[in-house]
Amino acid sequence: MPPIDVSRPLRVAIAGFGQAGRCHAETWAMMPDAVIAGVYSQRPDIEAPAIARICGPEVQVYSDYERMLAESGCDFVSICTLHDTHAAQAIAAARHGKHFIVEKPVCLTLEDLLAVRRAVDSAGIRAFVGFQEFHYGQLQATIEAVHKGWLGRVHLAEIEYFNGIGPWVPQHWWARTHKIGRSSMLFCGCHPLMMLMLVMKGVKVAEVEAFATKSGAPDFAGFEYATTQVNLIRFADGRLGKVTSCLDSLHPYYWRNTLIGSEGSLIDTRIMSRVMLPGLDPKGWQHLATRSINDGGDVTPDMFRPMFERILANLRHDEPMPYSGLDEAFEMHRVLFACDEAARTGRPVAPDTSLP
Ligand SMILES: NC(=O)c1ccc[n+]([C@@H]2O[C@H](COP(=O)([O-])OP(=O)(O)OC[C@H]3O[C@@H](n4cnc5c(N)ncnc54)[C@H](O)[C@@H]3O)[C@@H](O)[C@H]2O)c1
Repeated sequence: MPPIDVSRPLRVAIAGFGQAGRCHAETWAMMPDAVIAGVYSQRPDIEAPAIARICGPEVQVYSDYERMLAESGCDFVSICTLHDTHAAQAIAAARHGKHFIVEKPVCLTLEDLLAVRRAVDSAGIRAFVGFQEFHYGQLQATIEAVHKGWLGRVHLAEIEYFNGIGPWVPQHWWARTHKIGRSSMLFCGCHPLMMLMLVMKGVKVAEVEAFATKSGAPDFAGFEYATTQVNLIRFADGRLGKVTSCLDSLHPYYWRNTLIGSEGSLIDTRIMSRVMLPGLDPKGWQHLATRSINDGGDVTPDMFRPMFERILANLRHDEPMPYSGLDEAFEMHRVLFACDEAARTGRPVAPDTSLP
């Protein structure tokens, strides 16, 4: 791993300046231990004013990603471009010895996933994936409740994600395409699948089955893939997961967790546990008073700060990186590609095991 000089701020380059890139930039710009060293923009004519406002008028804007890696002096890259360029940009960052965070998904194919993994390992750099929602509030509390053993052994976990990616969403133009959005799971289903993998912490997936369908509403007719996919996941130790990725619901964004274990259950923000605290009514629900994932709406910079603080602590002081490390995301993507293959073929699929 290239040494990180802790006597100066981390020099961060931002690639892509859409909704996610702006959030990354605003967050890094607020942090005392980071400075923005350069921005790669595919549309500098449109994005230059926002880049100058957020990153400062002196920041160098590059229209060539490789040139930014070579000339900006950055230590770290926030890759926030569209899906079809993530893998190549992650591999290039690694080859230049830069640590990086790549927005989800890491890539669009299993081959690219393995190539990113190999590039990171051979460069010895650290890589992170943009799952900021697990670093605070309801989802963090849920993961930690499971890891504390309050539900005992969770044998059934259903994570359901409902969103409506109609033409009213600015990302609709690319999200709907096979070339960039690619599948319901790659566009958004990776979030609930990552949640399932974090809850089941390190247990391997034995096989998956999946089925896909789409809404009859004209709002979603432009999608080049099936917008709703339900995945059944059997873990190697016999436990079960179900992940729903629905991009064509008409109700407001809704994320639903149902976790059933040997000592209790957790459904959304309600928990029942026989072991959490003595004296609690074993038949009643306790309410987790926490920032709900369903209050989120659009992403905002405050949602990224806890994840970025952990990235800095990991790079500078070798502290652990929960929830968003490449290892966990790598395993999740393997399962995701198995789910998409199962939905395509109608057959059960075992995830690839070609890299440990
Ligand atoms: N972690 C999260 O919660 C979260 C939230 C939003 C987006 N994302 C991810 O971040 C990445 C970027 O998404 P986004 O929402 O910022 O996308 P966006 O549509 O807001 O913009 C992304 C970038 O694409 C560039 N671009 C490339 N070709 C273009 C073209 N032909 N026309 C217009 N713009 C073009 C734009 O310049 C812009 O910088 C994606 O991987 C997405 O999945 C993650």
